[in-house]
Amino acid sequence: MSLRDFLEVLDNEGLLTHVRRPVSVRYEVAAIMKKLDPRPVLFHDIREAPGFKLIGNLCADRKILARALGISERDLLKRIVEAMENPRRGEIVRDPPCQEIVIDDPDLRKLPFLVFGEKDGGPYMTAGIVIARDPELGHNASYHRLMLLNERRVVARILPRHLDEFIKRGVRRIAITVGNHPAFMLAAAVTWKLGVSELDIAAALTPIRYAKAVTSDILVPADCELILEGRITDERADEGPFIDITGTYDIVRKERVIEIECITMRRNPIFQQILPAGSEHRNLMGMPREAAIYAEASRVCEVVDVRLTPGGCNWLHCAISIKKRSDDDPRRVIEAALRAHQSLKHVIVVDDDIDLSSPYDLEWAIATRAQLDKDLVLRPNELGSSLDPSADQVTRRTCKAGLDATIPLKADKSKFIKARIPGEDEIRIEDYVK
Ligand SMILES: Cc1cc2nc3c(=O)[nH]c(=O)nc-3n(C[C@H](O)[C@H](O)[C@H](O)COP(=O)(O)O)c2cc1C
Repeated sequence: MSLRDFLEVLDNEGLLTHVRRPVSVRYEVAAIMKKLDPRPVLFHDIREAPGFKLIGNLCADRKILARALGISERDLLKRIVEAMENPRRGEIVRDPPCQEIVIDDPDLRKLPFLVFGEKDGGPYMTAGIVIARDPELGHNASYHRLMLLNERRVVARILPRHLDEFIKRGVRRIAITVGNHPAFMLAAAVTWKLGVSELDIAAALTPIRYAKAVTSDILVPADCELILEGRITDERADEGPFIDITGTYDIVRKERVIEIECITMRRNPIFQQILPAGSEHRNLMGMPREAAIYAEASRVCEVVDVRLTPGGCNWLHCAISIKKRSDDDPRRVIEAALRAHQSLKHVIVVDDDIDLSSPYDLEWAIATRAQLDKDLVLRPNELGSSLDPSADQVTRRTCKAGLDATIPLKADKSKFIKARIPGEDEIRIEDYVK
């Protein structure tokens, strides 16, 4: 399925907001995306980029992501784990829609790169997924924010993960895909074993067709909207400042320059952008990590649900609900979660009567079920996230903590259970109040 097919589904169900008025790439598109977050929004008229539509907030709502995969919200994490553990090859086709138009003398300034915030180091493209191919390891797909330098060059933020590993092995050619179906977007956000391709994880989530890029043997999603083909250079330039997942500005770093040699696209292309620190950014970053935590913690205990919470930037804080069999279970789960997601800072373990999507419920569990002198695990000076402004953002040293907010097994359980009024969930207030 393509992005276009999915937008049609959303539109038919009244879930897509259309903005037909001309809008500017400078703050205006970003401000509207933020106001509408988490509702998907299609911009029809971008003042500085005639000919392009632009989709925002596509994967901002977990319900919409579940809809895109044809499953219920409850099954999302299990489905992602299944796809990670059982990747599958996608079909390979010739003459793909994403190559309907081929531009050999590209000018990136004609694309709707956006200025999101007032301190941004330049115009940015945030939904570009970089695909690289290593002769032995196969394909890798990962997100890298791209700051526009000039008509042919961008600078990419590349953290020391798989793409960086590929570069160290000598890989230079890349294809950057834009305008993808949510399944591909979710798969590209997965960090898993080196050598397991995100292209195959995507194909295990939904049927996806691939085709060879025009200037290399790299496989790209055949039905995506636009591809930038080029190479990663050894040259470095200032990247940033730019807003990161925490909603704060990330620092300026010297990062690699990418040179674009060719653009291919569909007719009437739909560009795509992700609002930094918006629900889509946080969901896409967080959900594959939730799946990894779910898988790892399930080895030590019966896990009911996992949530990287929105107040914790869907990255730094994790809540896990379990069916506890031993009072050691919460500590084992805390260790498993910290193993599964290296950037994780704080973990809360609760019983399965707590709704992880409710920040109120989580705080209530801490307030009524935890004694911090016994229930807190502190792990100072650990390797954590570069995104947390309270940590050392260069050495990434931070203090991690886990909190057991479950009911002790030997305690009188009835003291801890929320009192309920019979019928409170079923009552229809309209029947009583006019
Ligand atoms: C919306 C979004 C933006 C991201 N931006 C960047 C980025 O600018 N630089 C980076 O190195 N990783 C970024 N990431 C994280 C990587 O894409 C992600 O961790 C990916 O899974 C790494 O792939 P790998 O396991 O193949 O290394 C971003 C992730 C998402 C979902």
